[in-house]
Amino acid sequence: MMRTITIAALMACVSTSALAQTQPWLDKSKSADDRAKAAVAAMTTEEKMTLVFGFTDGGGLDKVPDDVVSPAVKADVAAHAVKGSAGFVPAIPRLNIPGQTQTDASIGVRVQGMARTALPSSLATAASFDPQVSEAGGRMIAQEAKASGFNTFLAGGANLAREPRNGRNFEYVGEDPWLAGKMAGGLINGIQSQHMVSTMKHFAVNDQESQRTTVDVTIAPEAMHQSDLLAFEFVYETAKPGSVMCSYNLVNGRWACENEYLLTKTLKQDWGFKGYVMSDWGAVHSTADAANFGLDQFTGFPCCGDHQSYFAPKVFKAALDKGDISMARLDDMATRIVWPLFSSGVFDDPAKVGPIDFKANADVSQKAAEDSLVLLKNDGNLLPLTGVKSVAMIGAHADKGVMAGGGSSGVTPIGGNAIEGLEPKTWPGPVVFMPSSPVEALKTELPKAKIAYASGDDIAAAVALAKSSDVAVVFVTQWMGEGMDGTLELKGNQDALVAAVAAANPKTIVVVESGGAILMPWANQVPAVLETFYPGARGGQAIARILTGKVNPSGHLPISFPASNAQLAHDAIPGFGKPDGVPVHITYAEGAAIGYKWYDVKALTPLFAFGHGLSYTTFAVSDAKAQVDNGALSVGATIRNSGKTAGKGVVQVYVAPADYKAVGWEAPKRLIAFHKDAVAAGASSAAFTQKIDPRLLATYEAADNSWRIHAGTYHVLFGQASDDLPVSVDVMLPDLVWSAVHK
Ligand code: BGC
Repeated sequence: MMRTITIAALMACVSTSALAQTQPWLDKSKSADDRAKAAVAAMTTEEKMTLVFGFTDGGGLDKVPDDVVSPAVKADVAAHAVKGSAGFVPAIPRLNIPGQTQTDASIGVRVQGMARTALPSSLATAASFDPQVSEAGGRMIAQEAKASGFNTFLAGGANLAREPRNGRNFEYVGEDPWLAGKMAGGLINGIQSQHMVSTMKHFAVNDQESQRTTVDVTIAPEAMHQSDLLAFEFVYETAKPGSVMCSYNLVNGRWACENEYLLTKTLKQDWGFKGYVMSDWGAVHSTADAANFGLDQFTGFPCCGDHQSYFAPKVFKAALDKGDISMARLDDMATRIVWPLFSSGVFDDPAKVGPIDFKANADVSQKAAEDSLVLLKNDGNLLPLTGVKSVAMIGAHADKGVMAGGGSSGVTPIGGNAIEGLEPKTWPGPVVFMPSSPVEALKTELPKAKIAYASGDDIAAAVALAKSSDVAVVFVTQWMGEGMDGTLELKGNQDALVAAVAAANPKTIVVVESGGAILMPWANQVPAVLETFYPGARGGQAIARILTGKVNPSGHLPISFPASNAQLAHDAIPGFGKPDGVPVHITYAEGAAIGYKWYDVKALTPLFAFGHGLSYTTFAVSDAKAQVDNGALSVGATIRNSGKTAGKGVVQVYVAPADYKAVGWEAPKRLIAFHKDAVAAGASSAAFTQKIDPRLLATYEAADNSWRIHAGTYHVLFGQASDDLPVSVDVMLPDLVWSAVHK
């Protein structure tokens, strides 16, 4: 047996190395650049065109005329695309170039009818303030994806939560460029470590979902580079995603998927991106313009209504023949598409359908939730629940599960949807509840307590249960999904339910499952609030373990929670609630002043500030240091656990110029560093030190495409939330100007 395997392995080796003589891209010892170039040099025009045009399974490809997509290609897609998956680009078997099997997305493998492990929403994970948490999640979902036959992930959502009502904020990583860069970068690092290609998306300024395919965003280049683009720039540098997905919207009058400024100038020329730009599904509007201005792969055909076949061989070939697209550009597109297959390891370590350890993966998801849930309020240390004899659990189907967001990031839960039939049942629905019941989990954590559940539909019944219990826990939900924006007000009777229960039992805790920020008109009436966002496959267990103190909460808000709608930068979202496809326009006059920056500029006090998050212990920042060497700022600090319980503390570092307007900043302060550490009671963490990215201290100068630090005094502020920064160290920064083009 041993002998047979050894001989077979040897033969495979010999034949691969023999083949590598004629197909040099098979040679692992060569660089990804050389392999990609060699592969493309061997391709026919038809083969190159195969790479630039991708399909979606189940989009009605069989109904597309044969002269647009040939019967052979249709058969190839039918045979090789993973059923129910987002996308597929056929292989080139003659050259051993694998097909690209593409799956959504950031919280897990999404395939209709295929149950997989769901992480907490990306926004929830961002609340961990710990890139290792998103990296562990990325590794886990990539392993599942690989074992499900995928080699490409449509993940890495990094649009900033500029608009708190954006229906996709739960797929993104908050309102701050540095935090977003590190957290989405962590996820992509985890994914690509498993030899998969990941995107970062949706490039760029795709910050509202209403009319997402027609909205034209006006934003100044300075503002864009200091906010939305900076987040992507940090993601790109942190994780080097193999692909970038361009977005549906227009930016300054040009569709994002044919926006030369974004795709060619900024991404490819200035940042040096070597991978490929793939379109969002149905986001292409031309053939030659799209190709010449930076789109490399049209993906997801036929999707989305009147989606036209702009990159199909017939149309593309006609553009080549007319000279509207050069062969050099097609070569560049093909090279960019195959390069990540080599650089990420897809080529040498192909996806293979195999077994999945769902138990171990659920543990990863639970840990992510436990590191991410945010304790917003805990008056009188009502939490953790110790010694309680009875608990009233009320509302939001807490007897069955926890909510998830809707749209293309939705994962079919293992064990099925805990609540079938909720509205909306169709896209971006169905509404999914992960089968992880907080009620059942609390029973496990508090075996001696009487734990009863009331649905909350009948407020009087909920009040009666709350009155007869030691404590009441009210669950509320805000459902958000792709292709829609929402409101910050909770739907139905939820606000009234909380107020009534709080009036009946002063020991009321509210647990929020939301896509993003919500308004809490009852915030002053309840002593404790736990924000979970969408906490994933084991969210119920994570909630129960935090409520009971088995886990000490350590999440911090990656977004601000406004006190009212009047605090938002925009009164209304253009096109909100109208049928899709109405051309609308929005001007981001607030520029880069997003989230806490906006609140600071306007001197507004939010309900809960960016970075806020409580623990069952207390932390203090000590040994704060800030120093400038050759114009470069470094900061350092230690986290001291001054309480009686072990926990994880987060130190946050911001910089505030002495006069922010004088140095051209968009707002009084910016987050420049954060660091999380587990610290035993009474102990101090090891000192962390970090060199600060100079762009976080600078303004972008559009006139000469440079970054500039303006000389002056800057206060370096240390603390545990954007509104809790008790330690300040002053530094003098010298003038510094450097090119925005990456070295
Ligand atoms: C979404 C993308 C997603 C794609 C494929 C689009 O509707 O905007 O985020 O990756 O569909 O499912």
